[in-house]
Amino acid sequence: MFDNWEDLEKSIINCNKCKLNSGRTNIVFGVGNKDADIMFIGEGPGADEDKEGVPFVGKAGQLMDKAFDGIGINRDNVYIANIVKCRPPQNRVPEKDEATSCLNYLRNQVILVKPKIIVLLGSTALKNILGEEHSITKERGIWADKKGIRYLPTWHPAALLRDENKKIEFWKDLKLLKDVAKEENLAI
Ligand code: URA
Repeated sequence: MFDNWEDLEKSIINCNKCKLNSGRTNIVFGVGNKDADIMFIGEGPGADEDKEGVPFVGKAGQLMDKAFDGIGINRDNVYIANIVKCRPPQNRVPEKDEATSCLNYLRNQVILVKPKIIVLLGSTALKNILGEEHSITKERGIWADKKGIRYLPTWHPAALLRDENKKIEFWKDLKLLKDVAKEENLAI
């Protein structure tokens, strides 16, 4: 574990801990406010993210940005990262060994950001952070507590592209987040 961003970022540059390293253009480390109260965790980079080295800049990210704008969440106030930092081929779900190899980087990011709330975007984030037994279908919109951090699982924005009905629930969850943040004076 590193106690500063510079060393952590340096440590990741030549990462070859898992097979995803062979297909990447860029490592997608994370973006946003490194002192954020609220952190968002997705699954892994897609083609656009791999090209730009920034999380959530493709179609799913643009949809998330739209929701952020509508609800009044400023992307610059939060920190956004993923379970894996290199693009899985054909955007498949990261395999267990890939997620496990990458999770220590994310843990280190969480330790440095010290968020009060973490929004888990989709099943991969939920299962890798809170445990395999969790279900996004059953638990989205329901707060969970673990080691002093509050977690809010919600749909992955890519799921909204496949199923319009999930949009309303996603917005509802982000609105809940916004209300809690406002109440507690958290940066959002
Ligand atoms: N999907 C993710 O989970 N993360 C990204 O950065 C982009 C798409």
